[in-house]
Amino acid sequence: MPEDANPEADLSFLKITANTDFPRWAKRPDLIRFFNETMKPYHDTPEDVASALDYALDPGRAGFVMLAHEDEKLLGALTMLDSGMGGYIPRWILLFVSVQPDARGGGIGRRLIERSLAECDGPVKLHVEYDNPAKRLYERMGFVSKYAEMRWEPSA
Ligand SMILES: CC(C)(COP(=O)(O)OP(=O)(O)OC[C@H]1O[C@@H](n2cnc3c(N)ncnc32)[C@H](O)[C@@H]1OP(=O)(O)O)[C@@H](O)C(=O)NCCC(=O)NCCS
Repeated sequence: MPEDANPEADLSFLKITANTDFPRWAKRPDLIRFFNETMKPYHDTPEDVASALDYALDPGRAGFVMLAHEDEKLLGALTMLDSGMGGYIPRWILLFVSVQPDARGGGIGRRLIERSLAECDGPVKLHVEYDNPAKRLYERMGFVSKYAEMRWEPSA
């Protein structure tokens, strides 16, 4: 489990690449709950978070979960998928990022995203609701919106 401490503050990062890597202070069910509860109202169901973690941590892919923590206190987490694509569609998809509500606005989210982008060898794609204030943070970090996302749903 590679771990590095940030000398600027008591914030450390832990990169998880397998389901067996979760530390005792942030077990897999804790992470599922964390993403489901702290991302509200932009959250996914626990079932969808669980399958996203399965995809990210599939041994055949290079996706990961990055934890931001102070000692054994979880402050934030990010899930990055390895889509297996490349060229016309970015390989990397930043799927979930969240910081504990009482720790927001202090730069943890930015540092967690920067630390995770450093692990990616090419373009990273994400989607964010137009009204989510996180959109401003992404824009300040250099993310640009080049295309409108459109979806077609099969009728029942
Ligand atoms: C988005 C998020 C991870 C940023 O983490 P953070 O530690 O607060 O971020 P930073 O301190 O580095 O940067 C603050 C920026 O985050 C954004 N932000 C979003 N929600 C925020 C909140 N509740 N409090 C403070 N900043 C928030 C703002 O853009 C803010 O910048 P601003 O000065 O332009 O308003 C965090 O706010 C969060 O967990 N939000 C809920 C989950 C979510 O919506 N995730 C993104 C899904 S696409």
